[in-house]
Amino acid sequence: MVHTGEQTIKKQLIQALTSAGDDYISGQYLAETAGCSRTAVWKHIDALRKEGYQIEAVKKKGYRIVPRKDCLTETDILIGLETEFIGKSIHAYESVPTTQTIASELAAKGAANGTIVISEEQTEGKGRLRRVWHSPHHGGIWMSLIVKPDIPPYHAPRLTLLTAVAAVLSMREAGVNAGIKWPNDVLVNGRKIAGILTELHAESDQIHSVIIGIGINVNQQPDDFNDDIKDLATSLAIEKGETLDRVTFLQSFLMHFEELYQLFLHKGFLPIKEEWEKYSVTIGKQVTATTAQKTIHGYASGINEDGVLIVTDERTKEEHLIYSGDITIHQ
Ligand code: BTN
Repeated sequence: MVHTGEQTIKKQLIQALTSAGDDYISGQYLAETAGCSRTAVWKHIDALRKEGYQIEAVKKKGYRIVPRKDCLTETDILIGLETEFIGKSIHAYESVPTTQTIASELAAKGAANGTIVISEEQTEGKGRLRRVWHSPHHGGIWMSLIVKPDIPPYHAPRLTLLTAVAAVLSMREAGVNAGIKWPNDVLVNGRKIAGILTELHAESDQIHSVIIGIGINVNQQPDDFNDDIKDLATSLAIEKGETLDRVTFLQSFLMHFEELYQLFLHKGFLPIKEEWEKYSVTIGKQVTATTAQKTIHGYASGINEDGVLIVTDERTKEEHLIYSGDITIHQ
């Protein structure tokens, strides 16, 4: 992450260069646009090149940018991001073991509310229930979001449901008809397209931070998935039949997340619960719920205000509260 002033100049330079398309623009024009000296323009262009931007400089003509493939860098994400605080501080990496650990460390060191940690690849991506989360290079969005809500620690699981709603809304906006399988799997046509892992750092009565890890399969093709998940997973590109711009998709997700998060803080969980139920593919279905203690076959009638799934046993008609576990949905 770099200083905000420098980031603003880089952002303005990229915007000016990008909107000029194939044309060259002079150093003088760039300096005026960014409100800095020509030497500063040169310095920032140099920094942008180090970030991977290809910027040509030709004497007497000026600068021109070579369009590049979809990269999740801090500058790319910030350009056009219209949130107030979610994603305004970005730590972007090429490859890390897992963004969750980095985010936890940053949160402990005082990272701002809304900070994101994102990586093109994770070598030790973590899923729920200690599973591995396959996070190949350039295929998806592997990100951990740090939030510091002033809510009791036992309300933190509500943020997982909120995140699933944000993912579904951004996917629907991108033309992919996603739904939510309890507790936090995002599915399309029965296949998993995104997963959420929430980790809480708190004392008994106070949250220090919540690390919301989200993995979204964006541009993978069927062969990119490991054999063990090939039949269970899908991506936005597979569902749409075309590659998506990950930056645009991420910005939309961050925008939806922020709107829902503000709604949650100001109006409580009920509006989020209603949205979650609207997109749920679990509620109203016959399910098998497998928890560490038991397996229940029954009817999923709803979630309570803590996001706990309510399943009515088909044999005994007894209502069970499912706090965590796996669900199989029967049609
Ligand atoms: C699941 O469905 O099992 C949850 C998957 C969560 C994956 C994301 S990717 C970004 C963040 N870093 C991780 O190691 N895991 C989460």
